[in-house]
Amino acid sequence: MRTPFLAGNWKMYKTPKDTQAFFDAFLPLVAGATGRDAAICPPYIDLHVAIAAAAGSKVGIGAQNLAAGKEGAMTGEISGYMLKAIGCRYVIIGHSERRQYFGENEAGVLSKARAALEYGLAPIVCVGELLAERESGSTEAVLAAQFDGGIAPLAPEQFAKIVIAYEPVWAIGTGKTATPQMAQEAHGAIRLLLNGHIGAAAGAKVRILYGGSMKADNAEALLAQPDIDGGLVGGASLEPRGFIKIVQAAQKLAPQRGQS
Ligand code: PGA
Repeated sequence: MRTPFLAGNWKMYKTPKDTQAFFDAFLPLVAGATGRDAAICPPYIDLHVAIAAAAGSKVGIGAQNLAAGKEGAMTGEISGYMLKAIGCRYVIIGHSERRQYFGENEAGVLSKARAALEYGLAPIVCVGELLAERESGSTEAVLAAQFDGGIAPLAPEQFAKIVIAYEPVWAIGTGKTATPQMAQEAHGAIRLLLNGHIGAAAGAKVRILYGGSMKADNAEALLAQPDIDGGLVGGASLEPRGFIKIVQAAQKLAPQRGQS
């Protein structure tokens, strides 16, 4: 069974003080939420405040990136070992902004995913096509290449611990959302890749989140799709009252999802 999962990706927004204010407002709103998982992935400098604020709540905290390896002479980097030590549960890997601005590729995504798993973090691995790739009809080929290079080489038992986020690059931060049908098509394609690789029973257990301008007024239609198991939410996760509406929309997902 796949429990709906809503994760906020704060990108390069909010100071520790802003983070405390967010949790002061958000935690009472999310208290008592059952049947869904929620997480916030703030900038590194806010993790400590976020983890302390969310302690004892059901909100998990994640980082937005990590460096492979445990420790070493790697100026400016933070490892999965360190993230786990302060209480992170998740880490976003291979976000399109990391691919675009920091040159991350499939080999790097794979080694980061392996490092996350080694230190007990659940990787949220991002995949998704550029606008030109969608327009040239190569969306599925792009997703397959990203899956084959960055995800498929993981050990079969590690798939139980990963989350995949489908984020069409043209929809991120643009206000342009994939229609529920377009998103479902891509999620269905990813599910088929999973099923082909680890078998349908294991494939049915992996959560696939949608990301790209998900907000309060489109979340319900997206989350109603059979293979959309939650969201990786950027801009709309910065405000407690906006993000809680998306978390609440997940309540309407079919509880038996993933059992077929
Ligand atoms: P957005 O970002 O919701 O602001 O489009 C999503 C993401 O980049 O994860």
